[in-house]
Amino acid sequence: MLNIILMGPPGAGKGTQAVKIEQEFSLPHISTGDMFRAEMASGSELGKTVKEIINRGDLVPDELTCEIVKARLSQPDCANGYMLDGFPRTLPQAEALEKMGKEINRPVTMVINVSCPDEELKRRITGRRVCPKCGASYHIIDMRPKKEGVCDLCGSELIQRKDDNLASFDTRLSNYYKSTAPLIAFYKERGLLFDFDGTIGSENVKNEIFALLRGK
Ligand code: AP5
Repeated sequence: MLNIILMGPPGAGKGTQAVKIEQEFSLPHISTGDMFRAEMASGSELGKTVKEIINRGDLVPDELTCEIVKARLSQPDCANGYMLDGFPRTLPQAEALEKMGKEINRPVTMVINVSCPDEELKRRITGRRVCPKCGASYHIIDMRPKKEGVCDLCGSELIQRKDDNLASFDTRLSNYYKSTAPLIAFYKERGLLFDFDGTIGSENVKNEIFALLRGK
């Protein structure tokens, strides 16, 4: 069973790989970041609660995050596998996931850890532009849209995520090292961790991940 976690610092390429894996292996892509951004866009109470936290690059409280993940993982479409992107991000979240995995009989079977040096992460994040409508991602140097500022896929105006500025990026990165990087040891101990170099080009990263998933 492919019950996967995609882990890595901000900008390592988790979202990029998640889209490719979702298409190839038909796994539901559960991104806590996307879920929170959808709540923010809808103006819901949850969205209002998390907006400032996310924009400044801090982590949403564990209890709130675990609650939405448990509800999502319990849905019928996760019975034959799932892919978590950006969760867990703290030790309490990893422990809660282990517990809920047992309760709903959907334990994590593999952790894909994508690494990338800090300077490259900063370059990717500060140059990223996204389509607020269809979610497509671009970069001002590496991956320009055909028409500047306009999404190739749906024609919407591209935006910069509010947390893709330098100050928020620094906070996200230091939160990653403080709270998320320790999970590498947590999953290594459980024999679930697989490491990937996120600097080798997204198609190469994809090929390496697919080879692992096809062998399972
Ligand atoms: P989230 O949306 O998860 O953001 P993140 O982890 O910071 O990750 P990103 O989406 O920025 O990066 P990515 O690794 O997906 O990279 P991408 O593929 O886009 O979370 C946002 C916020 O929500 C958090 O800060 C927090 O506040 C909150 N939150 C979410 N989950 C939470 C949780 N569990 N607990 C508490 N709070 C939570 O790629 C980046 C760029 O690089 C793109 O432009 C892409 O084209 C490019 N690129 C990708 N791969 C390559 C490659 N191999 N070579 C060259 N360029 C590449």
